[in-house]
Amino acid sequence: MVELSLPKNSRVTEGRTWPKPAGAKTLTEFRVYRWNGDDGLNPHIDTYYVDRDDCGPMVLDGLIYIKSKIDSTLTFRRSCREGICGSCAMNIDGTNTLACTRGMDECASGGTVKIYPLPHMPVVKDLVPDLTRFYAQHASVEPWLKTDTRAPGTEWRQSREDREKLDGLYECILCACCSTSCPSYWWNGDRYLGPAALLQAYRWLIDSRDERTGERLDGLEDPFKLYRCHTIMNCAKACPKGLNPAKAIAAIKGMMVERQF
Ligand code: SF4
Ligand code: SF4
Ligand code: FES
Repeated sequence: MVELSLPKNSRVTEGRTWPKPAGAKTLTEFRVYRWNGDDGLNPHIDTYYVDRDDCGPMVLDGLIYIKSKIDSTLTFRRSCREGICGSCAMNIDGTNTLACTRGMDECASGGTVKIYPLPHMPVVKDLVPDLTRFYAQHASVEPWLKTDTRAPGTEWRQSREDREKLDGLYECILCACCSTSCPSYWWNGDRYLGPAALLQAYRWLIDSRDERTGERLDGLEDPFKLYRCHTIMNCAKACPKGLNPAKAIAAIKGMMVERQF
């Protein structure tokens, strides 16, 4: 697997080691990337100790413990804590994943949990990456039903078989774990749409109710938007929902070939 590198502003130095919670018996060490554009300091790694008897078992529980009991300035995103909103995506022990579904005990670095923001994205603060471009790329594939036929009175119907073609695609939570683990996206993220946006593009390309397949393919016919995928497969390894963007990208390429005949 390709080694994930640090975020863009990454002249990282050793930061502060915070005191251990008094009286705690079971401690887990957290080493967390910190950066605040307003304080003029270099990015640094702060060390915290989480009292395992005073919080839940997930990495997100540990971060919430730190924020509420040790250092309220630590900044990260989270919402559902159920692996469905995608907000808490970050790099934990070298892997892009969701903090709310990764157990502290699953972390492999000798009892230490090492946390960075998603790699190769600008950082807003601490563990919060700037996903503006990522969302714009998602919007650019126009992820909604487009039809020319007059809308039916009740709903657009679909056979059970056609609906099943959307399985493995509709479950995407737009966490960005895949795109930010993709070397092609690291180097060409301004022009290559990346695995998440392309998985969404395919979700609409194969929706039997959509009537703009040709127009959608035209929009992807570009040396960079689609064809920078080199099937390295980091995206499928990283996806916390078990989806396979590389397979979807290969299917789009197949549709491009088929329409020439
Ligand atoms: S298979 Fe394609 S999209 Fe997935 S990580 Fe590799 S280059 Fe990126
Ligand atoms: S395909 Fe998986 S990793 Fe990529 S954005 Fe969707 S849920 Fe996240
Ligand atoms: S908090 Fe929603 S996916 Fe983790």
